[in-house]
Amino acid sequence: MSHYDVIIIGAGAAGLMCAATAGQRGRRVLVVDHANKVGKKILMSGGGRCNFTNLHTGPEHFRSANPHFMKSALARYTQWDFIALVERHGIPYHEKKDGQLFCDRKARDIVGLLLAECREGGVEVRTKCPVTNLEVDAPHRITTGLGPFTCDALVIATGGLSIPRMGATGFGLELAERLGLRVLPTRAALVPFTLPDKLLGKLADLAGISVAVEARCGGASFREAALFTHRGLSGPAMLQASTYWEPGEAVTLDLLPGLDLRETVEAARRNHPHLHLKNLLGDFLPKRVAQRWCAHWVPDKPLARLSESDLEKAEERLHRWTFKPSGTEGYATAEVTLRGVDTAELSSKTLETKRHPGLYFIGEVVDVTGHLGGHNFQWAWASGHAAGTAV
Ligand code: FDA
Repeated sequence: MSHYDVIIIGAGAAGLMCAATAGQRGRRVLVVDHANKVGKKILMSGGGRCNFTNLHTGPEHFRSANPHFMKSALARYTQWDFIALVERHGIPYHEKKDGQLFCDRKARDIVGLLLAECREGGVEVRTKCPVTNLEVDAPHRITTGLGPFTCDALVIATGGLSIPRMGATGFGLELAERLGLRVLPTRAALVPFTLPDKLLGKLADLAGISVAVEARCGGASFREAALFTHRGLSGPAMLQASTYWEPGEAVTLDLLPGLDLRETVEAARRNHPHLHLKNLLGDFLPKRVAQRWCAHWVPDKPLARLSESDLEKAEERLHRWTFKPSGTEGYATAEVTLRGVDTAELSSKTLETKRHPGLYFIGEVVDVTGHLGGHNFQWAWASGHAAGTAV
């Protein structure tokens, strides 16, 4: 039976970073993955260009039951460290917006970088290698499609539940539960909302139209675009809000963020008293959205005839339009899984479990969920590096 210093289950972002770090420290490392190739989510990320980090990554861009947990790992392997690595590999990149860094070419550049770093550390990577049995002990024993192995340190980097067709499984979460570690109930996040039929009937034909909004939900707010879809609402603002949404709760949208509607109406009605509100709104919103809001929620009258209560209603329905999603599109389209292995079970410095020495959980399987914009990969790099330095 072959023995390794470190075995990592999951050849995704966190697992490969951990493997390269440990291998380059002289550890004998094996990475196993049940999929037919490594880094599948990296390849599909960022529309194929991988938003690999964010210039502004910091603890405030993450959600976790313990908002301090990620600080140590993020501080010890920062976005600047990953950017330096990208530059060392000569990978061209650009900032798209708000600090989001993307490859100029393809996401496969990032997978190539990770594999090159693994090679430099002498890491063995095995794909199509399912784990059929696992005993956490000293040494740990794992049985795989390629035979049995033992190791001193076992790292679980099997990611979250999103996009099962890309190889996502509940392996890490189920293992944690089996070993008596607390797992916080998961759900899909960074995911489009679905709407109840009645509301969808009023909005579905706006599918494809995007509006700049401020979305508020669960104490968080995001000023970005919302996109009408055939099933509900998507776009960055809605994906971000979904991370803070709990089933049954409402989401509030400001469809005219930063605009003083009352002042705008007052100014316009001096010169255009007969102008209908929907036509004025058409200067600030896509015309079809303005028409739809005036057909269902906002009094559409000539500006001169808008009463105080009409204006109050318009402000309420445009600055604080509140709806209850029927749900989300779920793991089939979600970018990430919210919650996971409770951080109270782990060392924030090394990601090692407190109850099982030599067992580590890193990446998305842990209860640390980043905002949209490259923060989730930065957590994968940082947590992978933290464990890779410790094993
Ligand atoms: P990851 O999912 O990368 O890797 C887990 C690995 O474990 C996989 O290779 C899987 O095959 C393997 N595995 C699972 N179960 C196993 C088992 N039972 N046995 C063996 N192996 C197993 N983030 C970001 O920052 N910027 C972006 O642009 C995007 N874009 C994006 C697009 C889409 C469509 C999705 C779905 C997600 C993103 N993300 C993102 C999120 C990002 O992809 C995610 O947070 C990281 O990949 C998480 O890294 P991990 O290594 O934890 O899991």
